[in-house]
Amino acid sequence: MSTVNESIKNRYSALSFSAKEIDESTLKELFEAARWSASCFNEQPWNFIFASQSNKANYDRILNCLAPFNQAWAKSAPVLMISVASLKFTINQKNNTHAIYDLGQAMANLAIKSTDLGLSVHQMAGFDPNKAKQDLKIPDDFQAICASAIGYPDSTDKLDGELKKRAEEPRSRKELNDFVFENLWGNTCKL
Ligand SMILES: Cc1cc2nc3c(=O)[nH]c(=O)nc-3n(C[C@H](O)[C@H](O)[C@H](O)COP(=O)(O)O)c2cc1C
Repeated sequence: MSTVNESIKNRYSALSFSAKEIDESTLKELFEAARWSASCFNEQPWNFIFASQSNKANYDRILNCLAPFNQAWAKSAPVLMISVASLKFTINQKNNTHAIYDLGQAMANLAIKSTDLGLSVHQMAGFDPNKAKQDLKIPDDFQAICASAIGYPDSTDKLDGELKKRAEEPRSRKELNDFVFENLWGNTCKL
């Protein structure tokens, strides 16, 4: 019997979204979840740029940064977002080598919270970070790391071909003994 928190277990990357908009208070809850994440020296190096479908010019600015294979399904999401890491520590301008790690933690919390709210956050590496940096006016010392499509999941019947097949495949994971070791690397755990 699994005791994993239901929202961790049930979070998934939807490929089909309903047209229902995400209201401001719900969006705010997502960013609050990110805000309370842990970070190296409490630097909080996460930044998010989102745009809603209801504002086409701004939405398209992010949509146009996505790889075509992601645009194909992400264009149905009511919100698109680019997650940006601040690469230097504020206090001394030294490189923060954990900035991307910390942004990832913030994204994990945001994605889990989205599940609580009936939403899905589908993260994407398939986008052009340089185009995002230029088009979204991201300053030097900040790096666009990840794009996301956010919305209320809808039926996979709205999808065709490979996308439909992918959306209907059961989610799979490695077993614990593939990645958890006790005492030394390679010592398979007995958990
Ligand atoms: C950093 C990151 C990059 C990803 N890039 C893409 C992407 O470009 N396109 C895509 O369709 N899914 C992308 N995904 C979604 C993964 O394929 C998905 O998380 C994985 O298959 C596990 O499925 P699940 O999220 O439904 O559990 C990405 C996920 C992460 C965390």
